[in-house]
Amino acid sequence: MDFIHIQDVLKGKLEDKEVLLRGWVYRKRDQKDLIFLILRDSTGIIQLACKGIKEASEASVESSIEVSGIVKKDERAPGGYEIQVKDLKIIGLAERFPISKDLSEEFTRDMRHLWIRSQKLTKIFKIRSEVFRAMDDFCRSREFTEIQSPIFTAAACEGGTSLFEVKYFDEKVYLSQSWQLYAEAMIQSLERIYTIAPSFRAEKSRTTRHLSEYWHAEVEAAWMGFEEILEFQEDLILYIVKHVLKHCEKELKELERDVSELRDLKKPFLRITYKEAIKKLGRKWGDEITDKDEKELIEKLGGKPVFLTHFPRDMKAFYMRPDPKDSKVVLAADLLVPRVGEIIGGSERIYDMKELLESMKMFKLDKKCYEWYIDLRRYGTVPHSGFGLGIERLVMWIAGIEHIMDTIPFPRTMTRVYP
Ligand code: 4AD
Repeated sequence: MDFIHIQDVLKGKLEDKEVLLRGWVYRKRDQKDLIFLILRDSTGIIQLACKGIKEASEASVESSIEVSGIVKKDERAPGGYEIQVKDLKIIGLAERFPISKDLSEEFTRDMRHLWIRSQKLTKIFKIRSEVFRAMDDFCRSREFTEIQSPIFTAAACEGGTSLFEVKYFDEKVYLSQSWQLYAEAMIQSLERIYTIAPSFRAEKSRTTRHLSEYWHAEVEAAWMGFEEILEFQEDLILYIVKHVLKHCEKELKELERDVSELRDLKKPFLRITYKEAIKKLGRKWGDEITDKDEKELIEKLGGKPVFLTHFPRDMKAFYMRPDPKDSKVVLAADLLVPRVGEIIGGSERIYDMKELLESMKMFKLDKKCYEWYIDLRRYGTVPHSGFGLGIERLVMWIAGIEHIMDTIPFPRTMTRVYP
């Protein structure tokens, strides 16, 4: 007999049949000569009724076990079925599991290597996995090529304040904040490209949406303008949301995510310029739009995703193309979603060399560090656009998770690099 998974039993076609399962003891309940164990594997949980089985009394919570037994329908059991165990073998006997009553955030994060076994995180990671797959499927369906860039970089992409310095032999280099500058070189042959890779930000922000190492899905496309790149983002987000609804309906329900918001998602998304946004928020030109402002703005606009566009130049990155109709602002957009705020940052890029040199001067960048990047405007430059999507922030929104740390197995933040 082969091992099967718990979900195969819960599908309901194996009643009265003998099955072989393996997994971990999730809960244990003693009732005189009857012991109930809840078994968990990667697909779910199921009740094991163990009568007169000596090993069942020895099996502690989180021990790994193999069991054989008969499937019985039982309305009272989680999932509607239980296994009447015939044989149980302990594979790895667990010591007293440290996570039981104290479920404080700090404690479960110190115990992350064990806490990732929790039902909640297991569900979130399945959704996360489908987000990666959907990103891939969508970009490939649009004939984009997946390509990678280095993590060690000599110059900043997103500004100096959030750079991690690394000793690189006798030099000082940085961890990548974004693949973008390299992507701009690669589109000169591949034209339409994407990647999903780690990005690093030495941000001293202790918020519920900042990590110092996060997974960054990025897209760059030659011959694409600002309008087209926004439409691409709408299609991508709609595709990913639909895909997750299709493949993770069970997980979303168990996480108590109200999926109507996701089901009702439509394009085009709302758009608002920075100028209109500060007016709505009662601010003045030049004021930063904070995390809190973003959430307030979304609520004011009806609680749906919204593109915030046309930021003042000095508020954004040096590579963003000034709007030909109003050079005070750039052709850039952040996509904001309810409860999370910004999940995408993107723009059309400057492709004219003179304009790029002016911009670098304005941002006080050392030309020497960017010679290769300037070369891209020297040899057959083309209009192009791109964006970066924070995978963890997207998972936060789709799965309805409050803290970004719960969307990645081993979070890295300003105050945490262990375990
Ligand atoms: O807006 P950002 O900084 O844009 C860029 O890096 C561009 N070079 C991307 C591009 O055009 N190719 O970052 C893009 C996204 C943000 O919208 C956010 O979702 C995510 O990356 N992000 C973070 N996620 C978690 N923790 C952090 N500290 C993040 N910083 C940015």
